[in-house]
Amino acid sequence: MPKIAILIYSTYGHIAELARKEAEGVKAAGGQVDLYQVEETLSEEILKYMKAPGQPHDFKVLTPADVEVLTGYDGFLFGIPSRFGSFPAQWKTFWDATGGLWATGGLHGKYVGQFVSSGTQGGGQEVLPRNTLSIYVHHGMNYVPLGYKDTFAEQTNLEEVHGGSPWGAGTFADSDGSRTPSPLEEKVAFTQGKVFTEVLIKAEGGAAGATNGVQNGAQQKTLDPKAGGATGNDVTGGEAAAAAGVGAGAGAVGAGAGAVGAGAAPAAGAGAAPPADAATATNTGTTAATGAATTEKGAAGTAGASTGAAANTTTAKPTAAASKPATTEKAAGAKKTNPAKDVKEEKSKCCGICTIM
Ligand SMILES: Cc1cc2nc3c(=O)[nH]c(=O)nc-3n(C[C@H](O)[C@H](O)[C@H](O)COP(=O)(O)O)c2cc1C
Repeated sequence: MPKIAILIYSTYGHIAELARKEAEGVKAAGGQVDLYQVEETLSEEILKYMKAPGQPHDFKVLTPADVEVLTGYDGFLFGIPSRFGSFPAQWKTFWDATGGLWATGGLHGKYVGQFVSSGTQGGGQEVLPRNTLSIYVHHGMNYVPLGYKDTFAEQTNLEEVHGGSPWGAGTFADSDGSRTPSPLEEKVAFTQGKVFTEVLIKAEGGAAGATNGVQNGAQQKTLDPKAGGATGNDVTGGEAAAAAGVGAGAGAVGAGAGAVGAGAAPAAGAGAAPPADAATATNTGTTAATGAATTEKGAAGTAGASTGAAANTTTAKPTAAASKPATTEKAAGAKKTNPAKDVKEEKSKCCGICTIM
């Protein structure tokens, strides 16, 4: 049974509400879930000025001193409200305390899903998740996107306003925070929790004995299953030895990420890992490819991303474009000789979709 932590920040409760639906989905798929929130960093005075109702009571506060608690989990569902299309300072403050985990690889190989809230339609439903990728990439975590597969009807529903995207569930709070998550948005959040857990169950199947995915001898804090009170969230801080030999399942996914991740993730154990199936490969491919696109090698990253995604469904061998990001000059040069561009120019009078096929 995968252990999943839902970690959020929520000023007005929208993210907290989606998080509870995500938790229901995790449980429906047979996962174990604990609810956490990062610490508030704003003063009471400012929060009062912002008319913030106070942090939700059913989410245990994880302070920067508690970050090692994360090593006791297989995966995370992160809930983040938009701040100018990016994450709030409270979120960054928490992650800025994870340098020790970064150095020891304490979160390496773990899985991440994400859901968001914004006031408006252009407020960050997609760009916010993208803006968080650097944190996950540096920690070596695998982003598991929602995609469309399980929520196609909801995501393609243009009859009503709704948040969410293939990056994950989402809701609109409206500019004054008055809108609450709709049934459609809650359904998507539930489904995300469920399918995220199913992905982890699948990964665990190939990673017997590596439930927590802890590598490099990192120490981990665990939750005492006997403690926890009503919410099961009490952190006991018991130390456990790191599991040796992180599983083949994680290696398989890592191999996929290595294939498309612009050569940035040469996954250990990839050779021994069985080939990732199409679903997993697509997931990691999307993640790593998008991660590549966030590098400073903008043009090259994007090129690598599309090439890498294609390669991921067929072979684990990175293409030259994916494995070696070009410099800006090189990217410009590559553009001149890009056959796809020639095709595009030839077909410039058509709708444009076929030029990228
Ligand atoms: C400082 C600040 C900046 C914000 N920036 C944006 C923004 O750029 N776009 C947007 O749509 N909403 C923005 N919002 C609205 C929040 O995203 C919204 O209140 C939040 O998603 C509600 O979620 P919560 O109830 O879980 O806090 C901003 C809110 C604050 C306080």
